[in-house]
Amino acid sequence: MPDTRALAAHALAAVALRGVSLREAMEREAPKLADARDRALLMALVADGARWWLRFDAALDRLLARPLRQKDPAVHALLVLGLVQLEVLELADYAAVAATVEAVRALKRPQLAGLVNAVLRRWQRERAAHLAALDARPETRHAHPRWLVEAISRDWPAQAEAVMAADNREPPLMLRVNRRRTTRDALLERFRLDGQTAEPHAWLADALVLPHSVDVTRLPGFADGLFAVQDGAAQVAADLVEAHAGQRVLDACAAPGGKACHLAERADLDLTALEFDSQRADRIRDNLRRLRLDVRLRIGDAGMPQRWWDRVPFDRILIDAPCSATGVLRRRPDVRLHRRASDIAALNAQQRRILVALWPLLAPGGRLVYATCSLLRAENEGIVAPFLAAHADAAAVPFTLPVGQRAAVGWQILPGDGDLDGMYYAVLTKRDPSKHL
Ligand SMILES: C[S@@+](CC[C@H](N)C(=O)[O-])C[C@H]1O[C@@H](n2cnc3c(N)ncnc32)[C@H](O)[C@@H]1O
Repeated sequence: MPDTRALAAHALAAVALRGVSLREAMEREAPKLADARDRALLMALVADGARWWLRFDAALDRLLARPLRQKDPAVHALLVLGLVQLEVLELADYAAVAATVEAVRALKRPQLAGLVNAVLRRWQRERAAHLAALDARPETRHAHPRWLVEAISRDWPAQAEAVMAADNREPPLMLRVNRRRTTRDALLERFRLDGQTAEPHAWLADALVLPHSVDVTRLPGFADGLFAVQDGAAQVAADLVEAHAGQRVLDACAAPGGKACHLAERADLDLTALEFDSQRADRIRDNLRRLRLDVRLRIGDAGMPQRWWDRVPFDRILIDAPCSATGVLRRRPDVRLHRRASDIAALNAQQRRILVALWPLLAPGGRLVYATCSLLRAENEGIVAPFLAAHADAAAVPFTLPVGQRAAVGWQILPGDGDLDGMYYAVLTKRDPSKHL
């Protein structure tokens, strides 16, 4: 039987040292384990390993004279996992060390078993001094790359520490109740009968909160499309779009379809979900099928509407723009390892291009919601404010939310605000010239 920690080490080395996504690494390693509990442990180890990599990878520089990162990436990753088990998962020392040494053998590196054992024992002996050194720098205290520490500290100086701490906490599981198929109370009752703890969200009409992650496919009503997984911050979009029955609505960056499905659950709309990545569009299709929703799906580039637009204006447009995903690190622990500071300018160009290209498609009096799951001002108000300055027919619609903070234009929910993911929203309306005659 394969050793779960050895598989985790392979997966983590791929994610942290070769730029492989967590999802892809898991798809490669998880099928090797027959037992669902072993697969869950694998996922937890690799996710925590990625989340805390920048802390414990730096710790190994203090513990090893010659780092193994290049020469033996899987054993290096296994050592990071050993430290994660001791410090984050707080496994009993003996169990964590013994299981890690065992896994070196499973990695077919028995000659390194002594070294691995010695490194973990040294950590235990000198732990306090190493932790103090790692805690002294924000990069290693919070396991965030330096560029991101600097960007968060620049954009949100007062909140930076809290944001980075929130990025490392386990988020609650939030569900969105499919209003077309049930009510929140009825679903809560089904969960209760099934022994599941869930609470209605305090201010989001369709949200249910579960304290921990569970296998949602085993929750009652999953196959019948009674709910979907969606963080509360993303559920705000449907409130802000404010779409009414019969309106023509465009969700311009739609995959995997969370917000499009929410819009379709709320009202009978003439809704187009646009996505340029056809593989990701398949995920919209799967969600629409499970939730039993009827939405027009188009593959196309939001920045080139001349290729797909039928010249009938939209009453509502949602641009959930491609972004750095720096607001959702708590759910996507590999993002911090793969995102580079230099990506931001390219993302900004896309964000600007999509907003400028779609504005003419909005009907006078219509509403456009610009959203990202980024907390970087450059991707948010940095796109919307110059756009407003350059477009005389565009006006910002002021709004407030129960959590988060006002931005120069729009509203920013930072990771952890109200226990939500980080999301930015701005609402624009197109001035209706006929109303001013
Ligand atoms: C933040 S995700 C959208 C999440 C989605 N709205 C949801 O709630 O499930 C952004 C999506 O935009 C797509 N995208 C990026 N550039 C695009 C473009 N130029 N035109 C259309 N879709 C684009 C990406 O492939 C990605 O699926």
